[in-house]
Amino acid sequence: MDNSKTVVLSGIRATGQLHLGNYLGAIQHFVTLAQDPSNDCFYFIANLHTLTTRQDPQQMQIDLRNIVLDFMACGLDPEKSTIYAQSSVPELSELSWLLACLTPVSGLMNMHHFKEKKDRLSEEGLKANAGLLTYPVLMAADILGPHANLVPVGEDQHAHVEMARELAKRFNHHFGDGIFPIPNLLEGEGIRVPGLTADGKMGKSEADSAIMLNDSPDEVERKLRSAVTDPQRMKRSDPGDPEVCNIFTFHHLLSEPEQIEWARKGCTTADIGCVDCKVVVADHINKILTPIRARREELLVRGMDFIDEIIHEGGLKARKIIAANVKEAKEKMGVPSY
Ligand code: TYM
Repeated sequence: MDNSKTVVLSGIRATGQLHLGNYLGAIQHFVTLAQDPSNDCFYFIANLHTLTTRQDPQQMQIDLRNIVLDFMACGLDPEKSTIYAQSSVPELSELSWLLACLTPVSGLMNMHHFKEKKDRLSEEGLKANAGLLTYPVLMAADILGPHANLVPVGEDQHAHVEMARELAKRFNHHFGDGIFPIPNLLEGEGIRVPGLTADGKMGKSEADSAIMLNDSPDEVERKLRSAVTDPQRMKRSDPGDPEVCNIFTFHHLLSEPEQIEWARKGCTTADIGCVDCKVVVADHINKILTPIRARREELLVRGMDFIDEIIHEGGLKARKIIAANVKEAKEKMGVPSY
């Protein structure tokens, strides 16, 4: 490993198809960062994290391969970035234990993600498993394992990266300065792509709320057409409030400043209807997705065996680097492999 390079690392859970939120919040940055030769990029499928919420063995493997395919369709090159499955690197689970012993339970119980998931499960009469509680510790191990300097993620993951930073500082404080670099987020606010049918972020759970990377152009238009806007704007002639409209958030994410202004003015004066806005947004989204769809089709012609090879090679490479770092961390903690 070349120590003069910036280590970039990020992961995605294997939970079904990837969506536009994953692309805009994370994958587009993966691609840009991978093009800079001063970066050493590690992108992985967090299939151990998937187990906290989904445990269908066959589906897990299908999702894993599909995400690697989507990575490549979005422009990642396995020759330039190390692409791997979290489960290929058992030392991450070992590091997770070491870090868990430095993590107060109260901090984990107060994590917004944990509370939200626990409440949702309890509404269904289910109990949260221990993996959900220690989720951020494994995530810290993912980040600190390859000595990551930079972690490109969407806004929803910022609290988790903050915990990884705290754990790196705590570890270094107790066991030796400079063992783990303190990982940074990308500069600026992380983004949150809204859902189409509800408040909150675009997620994988509700098919009509998310634009999937492999949705057809018609599907994108259909989903946009039925997307919620300002609920107070009942008729075309009612002026709307862009600040409460998810479609306007999409303008912020995808449109040029003049077009954002067009949408704002047109909405507040009722000069344009919601449909006019939606057509523009659907067009922007289809411009992003068209080359991704085309590359996905091209890749699929090659079958899926080459994907397995990429995951295998990436796993070997990542494991070699991470295992050496974990060995060092164990030695510093006084628990080497005797
Ligand atoms: P996951 O699989 O939920 O999401 C993967 C990436 O997509 C981003 N993202 C979004 N960004 C903007 N708007 C949205 N609506 C949206 N939905 C998802 C996420 O912020 C994320 O960057 N815990 C992580 C996986 C993980 C990880 C890591 C990430 C495990 N270990 C170490 C970074 C570093 C997760 O569940 O991502």
